[in-house]
Amino acid sequence: MKIAVLHGPNLNRLGRREPHIYGTATLKDLERLIRAEAKRLGVRVVFFQSNHEGALIDRIHALADAGIGGFIVNFGAYSHTSIALHDALKSVAPLPAVEVHLSDIKKREPFRRRSMTARACVTMISGQGFAGYAAALQLLAKPLSSTR
Ligand code: DQA
Repeated sequence: MKIAVLHGPNLNRLGRREPHIYGTATLKDLERLIRAEAKRLGVRVVFFQSNHEGALIDRIHALADAGIGGFIVNFGAYSHTSIALHDALKSVAPLPAVEVHLSDIKKREPFRRRSMTARACVTMISGQGFAGYAAALQLLAKPLSSTR
């Protein structure tokens, strides 16, 4: 079973981007951690990062058509605004998606407190840093591995 991890805009800047909020570890470090957790759980993972809304939408459709088992998504700022990404996740239902935010969006600026895209996800994990991705993988791996 394969899970796709989608990183949205500016997440390629992890490690250098507002380190007081997001820390000093990089996207590569994050993907290493996710890969290790995937190995432990016996699932496969693929990664995709884009700063472009349409590229993320195209990848969601393509992965779904190619038989992906579910998604872990952090659409960055698009989470708060993108009806198109919300609809893209809906368009591949019933494939499950778990939304992750490194920071606790409920405790930040008012414009971050609501997630549009989380409405199309089974749940949202926010404010746990990198550990949130491991938790998301565990959630998605559970129902999948029980059907293997
Ligand atoms: C983020 C939170 C968003 O508000 C922000 O735009 C990001 C990162 C997070 O992981 O905490 O790019 O999604």
